[in-house]
Amino acid sequence: MNILVTGGAGYIGSVVVEETLRAGHKTIVYDNLVKGHREMIAPDALFVEGDLLDRPLLEKTFVENDIEAVIHMAAYSLVGESVIDPAKYYMNNVVAGISLLDAMRDGGVSKIVFSSTAAVYGEPEKQPIEEADRTAPTNPYGDTKLAFEHALKGYERAYGIRYASLRYFNAAGASERCGEMHDPETHLIPIVLQAADGQREQVEIYGDDYPTRDGTCVRDYIHVIDLARAHVKALEILGERSAIFNLGCGGDGYTVNEVVEAARKITGREIRTRVSERRAGDPAVLIASSDRINSELGWRPEFQDLELIIESAWKWMQNKSENAAAKDA
Ligand SMILES: NC(=O)c1ccc[n+]([C@@H]2O[C@H](COP(=O)([O-])OP(=O)(O)OC[C@H]3O[C@@H](n4cnc5c(N)ncnc54)[C@H](O)[C@@H]3O)[C@@H](O)[C@H]2O)c1
Repeated sequence: MNILVTGGAGYIGSVVVEETLRAGHKTIVYDNLVKGHREMIAPDALFVEGDLLDRPLLEKTFVENDIEAVIHMAAYSLVGESVIDPAKYYMNNVVAGISLLDAMRDGGVSKIVFSSTAAVYGEPEKQPIEEADRTAPTNPYGDTKLAFEHALKGYERAYGIRYASLRYFNAAGASERCGEMHDPETHLIPIVLQAADGQREQVEIYGDDYPTRDGTCVRDYIHVIDLARAHVKALEILGERSAIFNLGCGGDGYTVNEVVEAARKITGREIRTRVSERRAGDPAVLIASSDRINSELGWRPEFQDLELIIESAWKWMQNKSENAAAKDA
């Protein structure tokens, strides 16, 4: 297929593009580079630098490349920022997203895979979380993602646009070429590795008195390559129907302390930590049930091991530093 990947210069998007190319799809990255990185775009992908709100450019890109499906990953995704500036999130994650959907409707593109999030569940009533569980986001970021899911339902019913909404838990790890480079970085694994690398003094642990096995929060980490491969599988079902899938690895998840310990082991470096107050709205445990995507699409994680995930991210970070040093020399 000919696929447009919005946000394909971002962390997850750049790995998704590697996987769509590997599966033989012609892939066009559409990104305004507000958060993305040009050098992360796979060399075999075409690149259009543009904003989702630029309807004429979107429509031209659809026509010129005969686009058949969209993987929509472009969004803002900082929970804290969304609380301080919800307008920014509604504009980009909802209004700009609708601009994309309208361009698809008008251009006759009828398949979309959407990057949704575990944040749509808010504080879950039970673990592991299943797709049919109550959605009740606790911040504007989650609200905007859920609002877009609702729009998808309406656009399917009225205009026949099929969707697969993938509710990611915590994406982590790296491919050989692409890794996590958010600014600011708010995700635990890169933060822990930055501390190991001397880029930050310590890791802040928000609360160690949760009712978990060591008092720190439990989260579900999924290797970014496993996550990316799920997108390729999700594209396949869009010929038949729409669906919502959780994307995590289930199991018991990992506590913050377990992540830090595993990183100490892998890097062989000192990683200092400091315990501070709990953050408002941080649930003790967030674990996905991925049974639905397992049984309906036959998706299985291949790299479901915390050490493998951290090792890949560390290797990527070390290579990046070496390349930067070689350039400077
Ligand atoms: N990283 C995670 O663990 C995680 C978890 C749940 C959901 N998600 C979702 O997955 C998607 C990708 O996340 P990521 O971590 O790779 O983020 P990222 O910030 O690295 O990538 C987002 C990309 O979208 C681009 N973009 C943003 N607004 C745009 C616009 N209006 N027009 C064109 N391009 C635009 C940015 O330049 C960037 O390249 C996001 O939708 C995010 O909400 C991520």
